[in-house]
Order: sequence, then C-alpha cells, then structure tokens
Amino acid sequence: HENPLIAFMPSGRRGRFPVGTPILQAARSLGVDIDSVCGGRGICGRCQVVVSEGEFAKLGVTSKSDHLSDFSAVEQRYGDKRGLKPGRRLSCSAHVLGDLVIDVPSDSQVHKQVVRKRAEMRTIELDPIITLHYVEVAEPDMHDPTGDLQRLEKALKEQWKLENLDCDIRAIQGLQQALRKGEWKVTVAVHLGKQITAVWPGFNDKVYGLAVDVGSTTIAGHLCDLATGDVVASSGLMNPQIRFGEDLMSRVSYVMMNPGGEVEMTKAVRDALNDMVQAVAKEAGCSIESILECTFVGNPIMHHLLLGINPVELGGAPFALATDGPVQIWATEIDLKIHPNARIYVLPCIAGHVGADTAGVILSESPHESDEMTLIVDVGTNAEIVLGNKHRLLAASSPTGPAFEGAQISCGQRAAPGAIERVRIDRATLEPRFKVIGCDLWSDHPDFKAKTEGLGVTGVCGSGIIECLAEMYLSGIITQDGVVDGAMAAKSPRVQQDGRTFTYLLHDGEPQLKITQNDVRAIQLAKAALYAGARLLMDHLGIDKLDRITLAGAFGSHIDVKYAMVLGMIPDCDLAKVTSAGNAAGTGARIALLNRASRDEIVRVVKQVEKIETAVEPKFQEHFVGAMAIPHKTAPYPHLAK
Ligand code: FES
Repeated sequence: HENPLIAFMPSGRRGRFPVGTPILQAARSLGVDIDSVCGGRGICGRCQVVVSEGEFAKLGVTSKSDHLSDFSAVEQRYGDKRGLKPGRRLSCSAHVLGDLVIDVPSDSQVHKQVVRKRAEMRTIELDPIITLHYVEVAEPDMHDPTGDLQRLEKALKEQWKLENLDCDIRAIQGLQQALRKGEWKVTVAVHLGKQITAVWPGFNDKVYGLAVDVGSTTIAGHLCDLATGDVVASSGLMNPQIRFGEDLMSRVSYVMMNPGGEVEMTKAVRDALNDMVQAVAKEAGCSIESILECTFVGNPIMHHLLLGINPVELGGAPFALATDGPVQIWATEIDLKIHPNARIYVLPCIAGHVGADTAGVILSESPHESDEMTLIVDVGTNAEIVLGNKHRLLAASSPTGPAFEGAQISCGQRAAPGAIERVRIDRATLEPRFKVIGCDLWSDHPDFKAKTEGLGVTGVCGSGIIECLAEMYLSGIITQDGVVDGAMAAKSPRVQQDGRTFTYLLHDGEPQLKITQNDVRAIQLAKAALYAGARLLMDHLGIDKLDRITLAGAFGSHIDVKYAMVLGMIPDCDLAKVTSAGNAAGTGARIALLNRASRDEIVRVVKQVEKIETAVEPKFQEHFVGAMAIPHKTAPYPHLAK
C-alpha cells in the first residue's frame, strides 16, 4: 500500500506520509510555512489548519456544537481552554489518516501578509525579528554538573534545531529564576535567529514592538503585535525639543550657543519616548516589559539627538553624519524603559540633510523596485526629495523653510481644529468661502456659524495657505509674479491697501485673517525651493517627465494636489498619478520592525542612492529663480491645462 498523499494549500506542496504522522511534521518536512511557539505541545494554537478535503475532513468539520468531539485529547484540551473555531484543527496534534488537502490559513503562517490601509501600497510580509520558543529544559543533576544556560541551549537545539546562539549577560542574569519559576519550562525570545534576549517562566506568546518616527514637530509611534504585525496602539505627541527652537537649525544653534544643550535635548526626546511607551502599553493593555523591539526613523538632527550624538557637524558644510549606517543597540543605551533586554534598530541616514525618515519613506514606497519614474516629496521644515526608479535613485533636501507648515505666515498656524484648510474664491466677486478643521460645512452654509461655535476660525494651516494662494492666482488677485494686484481693489473691498502693498481679507472676524504680500512671498520662496530641488534631480537623470508623484508626510496627506500644481510646487504629472502616502516614514519604521530582510534591503538601497547637495549646485539657484513665478517659468504644465 502506498502512504496517504497530503497536499498543503495555498503553497501546493505535497508528499506521502505514513498513517499517524502529525500534520505539522508533514508540513515541516515539505517546507510548508506553519507557525508554532510551543513546539507542537498543543499550547500555543499557532499551528491551526483547516482540512478542506479528504477522509480526515470528516473528523474536523462537523456541527458547531460537537465539532470538538472527534478531536485528539490535546485538541480537546486546547479547545476547552482557548476555543477552536469550527473546522480548525491543531496541526501538531492531528494525525494523518488518509489522503488529505490541508488549508493553511494566513494567520497560521509565519510569513503572513500584514494588512495595510490602501490597496496600492506595498504589502508588509511578516518575517519576524523576534521568534518565541517554548522549551522544556532538563533539571540540574549533581552527577552531571552543567550550567543552566548550557542545558537551555541543549534543549533549544534538540527541540527547535537552534544552534550557536549568543546569550548576553542580561538574559543570563534572569535565567535561573525563570527556569525554576517555570518548573523547567520556559519561553525563550530569540533575536534575528542569533541571540537569546529574554527568557520567561512557562508559556508566553505575547511580544510587542514599537515603530517610531521622531519628527522635529511631532513624534509618532505605533505599537505592533509582533506575531500578527497588527498595530495595537498608536500615539502622537509634540516633540518637547520645540522649546529649544521651532525648526531644526534653531535647535542646532541652541547647541552651539549653549554648551551641553544637546544633552538637554537628548533627555527631552527620550523622556517623551518613555511617555509614549506608557501611553501605548496602556492603550494595548500590555506591560512595557512585553515590548522587545523598537525601530526609529527621523531626520539627521533628530537621529543624532536621539542617540546622544552632538548634531553641530550637521549645522554647517560639509554636513557630515556621525554614521550613515544603521544603529543597533540595547534599549537601555537610550534610556528607553521597555523590556530591559529589548533591542533598538535605527534606520540609516542617507546624507547630512536626508535622514533615516527618508530611508523609511523609501522602504514604504519602494521606488527602487518600480519601473515608473517616481518623485517622492516629504514636506516638513525641509523638503526631502527622492527621484528615480529601479535603475537609479537620487535624493536631496531642499531648504523650503517652515512656511508650508503655516510658520512665517501672518495668519498661519499648525493644522489644528479651527484652522482654515480649504478655500474657494468666487472668480467674479472675489468673495471667499472656506472650511475649517473640525467642521464639515463650508463657511457660506447657514449653519456654519452655529457649527463652529467654540471652535472659532483661528488661522490658516499649510494646506489652507496653498489653496488660498492658488485660488487668489486663479481669480486674478495675484499676478504671475506673485504681486497682490492693487487694481483688484476696485473690484472687491476684500483687496485692501496696506502701506505700499495690498492684502486680501480672507476672514473678517475675530481674529481678522489676511493674506499679505509677505505671506505670498514666503510661500513663493518655499515652493520655488521645493520645485528647484525636484527639477535639479530631474536634470541629473536627464528626464523631463515623471510617471508618478508621491507626497509623503502629514502635509502631503492634506494638500489638494491640483492646487499644489497650480502654484508650481511640483513638476507636471498626470494628476491621477499624484498621490499622498501619509506617514510613509513611520510605515518604513514599521516595515523594519516586522520584516527582517527589509533591514538589509534599506542598507543596500541607501548605499546606492546618489546624494545630491542642492547648496553647491549652481543649477539649483537657476531653477529657484525661475520657479518664483506662479506656476513658474521653467516648464509647461500640460496636465493642468486638461
Ligand atoms: Fe503549538 Fe500546535 S504548535 S499548538
């Protein structure tokens, strides 16, 4: 008689196995990806499968109420304790009886796909940084004196085929207690398949990781379940370094003027991170000790300050980074209060102005894997720009200043409730209508006043400024050169003289919100810098056409791309191919948290990226001057005309 034939779906792998073989064992010998923490002891439930066809199926799929009745004793016990969905079997405890087709559901695979919000985004495949292994360790014996660690290593080798593991003194310090408390049964966390980082008494299958984007204004973190990749809690808080200076350069100046200032700023950001850890652990209902891994992205100055590196070298030419490699350290080395043996991974910076946040954006958006010529713009205080495709990738930073964030604008403010974010201007009467953050109604709606009671109309945020200026231009209130046209004062009382220049009254309330000539200039300078940076990279590649533009960052997700193009912030492109990527830098940190291979990948890509220094390129100045006009004088906008 031939042995029964077992096929596993979706991989399609198949083989013959003797009656009585555990399904998990059959899967392993065929290289089928099935998860396990308990090593086949019927404890973890990670190995669940569905029998979709075959003799065996009769045992598994019966009515809801009695579906456990035909199970092995182990499955029965697991089902009683933790529940087993109808049709599900524990592959470690279910044995081959005859020919079978087995479905491995995605949640039982180690390398499962992690769901992302938008379909077109690159999927994240789980390739765990931390693996958990439940082991039973031999007790010490007077006649065979060996260390507890050596017996643990022996057990890991025999039960998990794990060999040549490192074990840091930190893990050894807690080892004896864990072994005895767990009565010689412990769960071991192994980092990157190489290092024992934690040992818990008994069975433990809950470990978490934190992915953090340290921005100069906000710090955003996502706590992820390392087994599923799911985000279980998120937190965003203000970077407390703001009190040392609003923008990056003023923080570097603070260090230059105040010896030891970098130590204060390092402490401030690390304290904030510990607050974040507390907040996300509370939200997820887990202990801070269950966080075993942390990844970070940030611009070069944030990167240096987080790591306790003085950032002064980044304040002036030639803008040398302390390191452009990834940084891998213990959490305790940056005073992070999570599991005492947790590891930190900081993505590599690309250049003095192009940070680990851009490396994160690249991981998230993968221009290096695409045929399309893609421009990625991350707008913050500096605009970080990446251009290229799978053949070549260039990166630069453009000194846009903080105008796009609402700073340096007379009525500007951060994006917060009460800030104007959408603007339309009537082409004939020049009357504006707008929307504020926190209210869905346009300002000309009869209920607008009532609905914004308490909210107020407090200022204009970055995306509001962009729309307002673009609408002013389209209504003829500002000229191609960016002059608020005094002739329009005859047409509408909204255009008012203010000394030698004119302003546009956007909102006549408390406070009055006016767009001044200086405001227009500030945005012109910022957008010219952004455009010139993008154009410079296009020159380097010898191209004049883009296939795709991706706007990353908070600003990028609020801005209406049509208006960005009207103002000439970005080069011409099919509007359908201009998209927002949200916090792509943070997503990059999350990918590095969940996928082992991505760490090697980003290090490799960062090495290959051609770094362009805008400050030393005469062409940059040329483009900058040309780009001051609206939209600008250097290239046409065929897609806008449509
Ligand atoms: Fe843990 Fe089957 S492997 S329950």
